Amino acid sequence: MKKILVVDDDTAMGEMCKELLKSKGYASDVVASGTEAIEKASMDGIYTIVLTDLVMPDIDGIEVLKKVKQQNPNIDVVVMTSYGTVTNAVEAMKLGASDYITKPFKRDELIIIIEKILQLQRLEGEVDRLRSELSEKYTFGNIIGESPKIKKIFEIISNVSNTEANILIQGETGTGKELVARAIHYNSARKDYPFIKVDCAALAETLLESELFGHEKGSFTGATRDRIGRFRTADHGTIFLDEIGNISLAVQAKLLRVLQDSEFEAVGSDEPIKVDVRIIAATNANLEEHVEKGLFRRDLFYRLNVIRILLPPLRERIDDIPMLVSHFLSIHNKKNRKNVEGVSRETLNKLMSYTWPGNIRELENVIERAVILCKGKIVEPVDIPLYQEKTGSLQDLSGKPLQVLMDQVERQIIINTLESTGADKEKTAKILQISRASLYNKINKHKIAEML
Ligand SMILES: Nc1ncnc2c1ncn2[C@@H]1O[C@H](COP(=O)(O)OP(=O)(O)OP(=O)(O)O)[C@@H](O)[C@H]1O
Ligand SMILES: [Mg+2]
Repeated sequence: MKKILVVDDDTAMGEMCKELLKSKGYASDVVASGTEAIEKASMDGIYTIVLTDLVMPDIDGIEVLKKVKQQNPNIDVVVMTSYGTVTNAVEAMKLGASDYITKPFKRDELIIIIEKILQLQRLEGEVDRLRSELSEKYTFGNIIGESPKIKKIFEIISNVSNTEANILIQGETGTGKELVARAIHYNSARKDYPFIKVDCAALAETLLESELFGHEKGSFTGATRDRIGRFRTADHGTIFLDEIGNISLAVQAKLLRVLQDSEFEAVGSDEPIKVDVRIIAATNANLEEHVEKGLFRRDLFYRLNVIRILLPPLRERIDDIPMLVSHFLSIHNKKNRKNVEGVSRETLNKLMSYTWPGNIRELENVIERAVILCKGKIVEPVDIPLYQEKTGSLQDLSGKPLQVLMDQVERQIIINTLESTGADKEKTAKILQISRASLYNKINKHKIAEML
């Protein structure tokens, strides 16, 4: 339970307060000087209220108030004043004291003040809790985005997390498949059990089989002792099978059995093992195609594919780039002890016109690099060398609906012209021989960040 810290150079008064608080069930500590008070109050999470005298020989109550509030704004400070020093009490209120009480006071006066503050603290705690619950619900902590596409994903995650359905996550490299898999696990009833990730592409067939299902000592060369296997480790939790597209037909058959009967045998053993594991699989391959070619079992595909989450590539949700950029800026500022404040509009445009073959992972790398190398407070275009400087070399312009390609070209032309005119919209419209209204429409339509 949190405590109240009583500060008074008059020890008899301090002890009296302690007794009074104790009679109502509130624990407190008493100190006789401001210095001690500041030191004690700096200990995290112990004190919830500081009740301090105003006039004290070493450091006075106003100083105590200032320091305590500075160290921990969540601690409420109540000042005690004597007759004649009420103006100090008013000053204290201005500096952030929660209340004041004039000495001598009646028992009830103090208790009422303390109870009122504790009640407010409870309410504030509740509001914080509700707020974070809400934001957790919509953003799942660290999955950032507000584009319609990502909102749809949030909706699916919150609908499926608490079910037992197996899930298949598809998406290009770096689109957040693992992040989503974790979000599902940690929002499910299995969250207190393990989340086990197996990178299926990294292991040769026999190794993968024993990694997943375990083996008995001596079952193959190199099997010098029993191995328990990832499925058993994941019991009651979730197993995340990353890069499932390339697993062998033999392992596929075993997986199918786990999915159907929650049962398998370790390599070299014929004793069936039962597990209760939810499977989330991920791939950046087109599994349907693998099925058509006979590389992936159709029955396994259907079993895994009960719920499918298709993560869009970053270039299809460029509206999320500004949010992602500020998210990664704050992460990498902290990590590298830097204080980069933001990106310039030109930089944002550059980031929003790029095609991001490596998706969000690539964006994160670019931002981290910029944070480290950037000399000023604002990231400029020179700080973000991109793998492929401009979108739409003519060769890239194929394989998509004509309208999409035309939009891509139109967007780039507008950006180039804005850049060449120093973002003068009147000139830009003239050069392109369109009206300013139409230019504004296109700027909005293509989400070209406004340049100065
Ligand atoms: N919506 C998002 N918000 C914030 N960070 C994200 C988001 N999506 C992905 N990331 C970050 O991008 C990086 C790549 O994500 P992740 O590893 O989940 O991708 P992946 O799809 O599994 O990629 P791969 O196919 O290459 O394994 C991680 O650092 C992850 O935290
Ligand atoms: Mg991954």
